[in-house]
Amino acid sequence: MVTKKEREAPPTPAQRVTLPEPAQAAAPPSADFALETVDLSVHYGPRPAIQHVEIGIRHRTVTAIIGPSGCGKSTLLRCFNRMNDLIPTCRIEGKVLFHGQNIYYPGVDATEIRYRIGMVFQKANPFPKPIYDNVAFGPRINGLHGNLDELVERSLRRAALWDEVKDRLKHSAFALSGGQQQRLCIARALAIEPEVLLMDEPASALDPTATARIEDLIRELAGEIPIVIVTHNMQQAARASDMTAFMLAGSLIEYSSTNDLFTNPKEERTEAYITGRFG
Ligand SMILES: Nc1ncnc2c1ncn2[C@@H]1O[C@H](COP(=O)(O)OP(=O)(O)O)[C@@H](O)[C@H]1O
Ligand SMILES: [Mg+2]
Repeated sequence: MVTKKEREAPPTPAQRVTLPEPAQAAAPPSADFALETVDLSVHYGPRPAIQHVEIGIRHRTVTAIIGPSGCGKSTLLRCFNRMNDLIPTCRIEGKVLFHGQNIYYPGVDATEIRYRIGMVFQKANPFPKPIYDNVAFGPRINGLHGNLDELVERSLRRAALWDEVKDRLKHSAFALSGGQQQRLCIARALAIEPEVLLMDEPASALDPTATARIEDLIRELAGEIPIVIVTHNMQQAARASDMTAFMLAGSLIEYSSTNDLFTNPKEERTEAYITGRFG
């Protein structure tokens, strides 16, 4: 066991902190969780956007974050890979532990964090490039040159897109449908082999058929990589996730297995939300 005191001790030296590689990941508590927050609060202005959030994201699990608009779902998700750092007014207190180490310690490289904890956004945002180059983009930035065919194919297969695009890899990504573009963005995120995948309402701009494909894909990927998905769609959380976190006004109200949360909620506010009494 790593004690609380050991966990909270700052790393030395202070300059650049090297996070452990997956193979040499620390002993518990990080063995239980891919990501873990400790008393996490975020302010953009005087009022907190999220407050005192404590949540552990399990390995090989789909975790859904649900709650009404503005409750802090995206803010929490962006804390997991330091995406909030890009918002100038944003102030973050507390910790996010990854391999047992706080990703907010001075000296941790936020860019490395964003490579290792990938993210897919609400609106598909392919680059104005061929399909192939979209997927090869991250690996090339990381210094991988030469023949990336295998990596591109593997990533497109993992994103359940290969069969639809294998004959037109040189075509513009913009020629794809909305659902295909979103799967391309997932392939692009997977191509740099992230250890966790974050998704912020990845299907909310898609029609029901394309949404179902994304949900199937999430289920398939869950065997390989932990996925955290923000959704305002309760049916989607119920269908696609193993664990569900319900947030309200910046607080984490309830966090349990998706089945328990939807069939036997412990909190009255959870029950009110899932039965449609507000939201
Ligand atoms: N970039 C930002 N600047 C200022 N306030 C923000 C910003 N992003 C979110 N907020 C505020 O933080 C709160 C939580 O927002 P958000 O995390 O986007 O909620 P959700 O994703 O659940 O809709 C809201 O009050 C929202 O207005
Ligand atoms: Mg949001």
